Amino acid sequence: MSGRFITLEGGEGVGKSTQIRALAAALTKRGVDVVTTREPGGSPGAEAIRTLLMTGSDDRWDARSEALLFAAARADHVARTIRPALARGAWVLCDRFVDSSRAYQGAGGGLTDADILTLHRIGSEGLLPDRSFLLTVGTDEAARRLSVRDAAGADRMGSKSADYQARLSARFAAIAAAEPDRWRVVAAEGAADAVTSAILAELEPWL
Ligand code: TMP
Repeated sequence: MSGRFITLEGGEGVGKSTQIRALAAALTKRGVDVVTTREPGGSPGAEAIRTLLMTGSDDRWDARSEALLFAAARADHVARTIRPALARGAWVLCDRFVDSSRAYQGAGGGLTDADILTLHRIGSEGLLPDRSFLLTVGTDEAARRLSVRDAAGADRMGSKSADYQARLSARFAAIAAAEPDRWRVVAAEGAADAVTSAILAELEPWL
């Protein structure tokens, strides 16, 4: 049995963590050895870097330092959690991965997509998911979900304008469109269990 590396991507508030939990439960029921994880984080070292990234003032890090911290967290996560799990045949379900760095850091902060991929080659030997799901919601729904989340207290990375979120969605869409074999785009506005079923249907050939 070979491991599978599956990532969920998208803007804030599209329901990735809910989906990861539901997918893990469904796959475990089918007898799959599942590891769920997230970025930034997913290993003790990467979780420590997450705290550096997610707390403090907006200008705590400049764009280059921030991109390097995400890449460093990812390198540790890949080496200590993801590769060992894949090697033993587990399916790794990961909430965000390098495509989040491409969407968030690779456009707008003086770093190009090629720069981010270079950092990824150095840090994580260029590991890419077998399948990536882009969860999408319309701008109005995204704004509504975000305001609920912000009312609960936004973190350093999450406190971005609606305009920024719209540009982010466009970048994710372009990244997915450029690599159609790896990506599936799933409309995530409906009921959570319908979204889970849509994702599972795409994974069915591997089960
Ligand atoms: P989340 O746990 O709500 O998904 O928050 C992670 C935040 O960090 C989110 O705002 C996206 C951001 N992020 C990046 O900017 N670059 C990255 O590479 C990753 C993994 C996350």
